Order: sequence, then structure tokens, then C-alpha cells
Amino acid sequence: LKGLQVAIDGPASAGKSTVAKQVAKRFGYIYCDTGAMYRSVTLAALNQGIDVHDQAAVAALAQRIKIGFEPGEPEQRVFVDGKEVTAAIRSNEVNANVSAVAAIPAVREEMVAQQRQIAAAGGIVMDGRDIGTTVLPNAQVKIFLVASAHERARRRFEENQRKGIATTTLAELQAAIERRDKLDSERSVSPLTQAQDAIRLDSTHLSIAQVVDEISAIIKKSE
Ligand code: C5P
Repeated sequence: LKGLQVAIDGPASAGKSTVAKQVAKRFGYIYCDTGAMYRSVTLAALNQGIDVHDQAAVAALAQRIKIGFEPGEPEQRVFVDGKEVTAAIRSNEVNANVSAVAAIPAVREEMVAQQRQIAAAGGIVMDGRDIGTTVLPNAQVKIFLVASAHERARRRFEENQRKGIATTTLAELQAAIERRDKLDSERSVSPLTQAQDAIRLDSTHLSIAQVVDEISAIIKKSE
């Protein structure tokens, strides 16, 4: 049986990557974190002194760098031109600049082409903002995962504390998340929107295990 394409979209810090990774494991599917790809381009621009608002320069960079993934615990490992960037792409500086990079049409064109290639054989769980609407419009399973901004900030705050990452206050985290949601939802190319045929799941009051079970049940019905 050929594996399905599973698209999981939603706003920042809704738990997409944690859930997507566990669902992929359960079905023996590949997992692809598309946010990590936009983060990798952003990090490379910052490291090379390229202005993230210089669209032509960032687009050329996106075409030039090689983004790679390797399985890892607790997070998938990410590489840019062979150098590991797993932790570096989660910095506050990348958080603050990634929406600008992701709004550049030529950057999206390049990332979407790479993502379609990764997903072509099926058996994939891909998470992002535009997977169900643009990258894989024919995906057999589409989930739109949401949670309140307050709950998303709370989870991110706890995660930062657990990992010993320097963190701002809960209120500042929530403000940064809301700012990113707004930029992602209002941009002109592939904004964050729910695909018409996506199933909306609100995880505000659900555990990770409950969300994974719900999505798994939906996949089983579609197989
Ligand atoms: O998912 P994550 O929060 O890591 O994504 C980082 C940023 O990358 C998002 O805020 C968004 O601007 C961008 N992104 C995107 N399209 C995707 C995935 C991420 O525009 N498919």
C-alpha cells in the first residue's frame, strides 16, 4: 500500500511539528518540517550579512543553499550545506525575521518545488502554513491545527524553560506569536488559510497524545 500525503497547517506554536513527527512515526511515513526550511534560509541570510528585505539576494541564496534533514530526537536534525543548524534556526533573531523571508515570492517558489519533490512518493506528513492549500492541494488528509494564542505562548514558555533557552515573559511571547500570525495571515503570497477540505482541530484543551490519536484515526479512514 502506497503511503498517503498528510498536510498539517496552522499558526505558530500550535504543536504542528510535535504532532506531525509522532504521526509520521506511527505510520512509518517521512516527516518534513517546512518551517525549518524557511528558517534555514533566514539563518543563512543573517549569517552572510544579507538584508532579509533584499528580495533578489535572499531568493538567490534560497536557490544556492542545500537544506537537508536527518532523523533525530527529540527534534529532526536540520543541515545547511552540511552544517548542523538544528538549534540555531530556533533563535529569537530567526523568529523575528523569518516571516519577511517567507513572504518573498521567489523564495516560496523554490521551497515549494523542493517540498513537492520530497512529498512526491507519498508516505509523508508535511507541516507548515500552505501545505494543504498550495504545496500539496491533492493531499488525501488535510488538518488545520489551531489553539488559542495564550495557550500557544504558555506551551512555548514551558518548552523554553525545559530546554534552558533564555526566554522573554509570557506576555511578550504571546505578543511575538500574534505578530507572526498576523504577518503570515496577511501576506499576499500563500497566506496562512485553512484549505476548504481541511479538518479543523482545536488543541487548546487537548494533549499531544489526543491530537495524535485524532489525526491517526482520520488517516486510517482515508487509507
Ligand atoms: O512552523 P514554523 O513556526 O517553524 O515556521 C516559521 C515561519 O516560516 C512561519 O512563521 C512562516 O512565516 C514561515 N512558513 C511559511 N510557510 C510554511 C512554513 C513556514 O511561510 N509552509
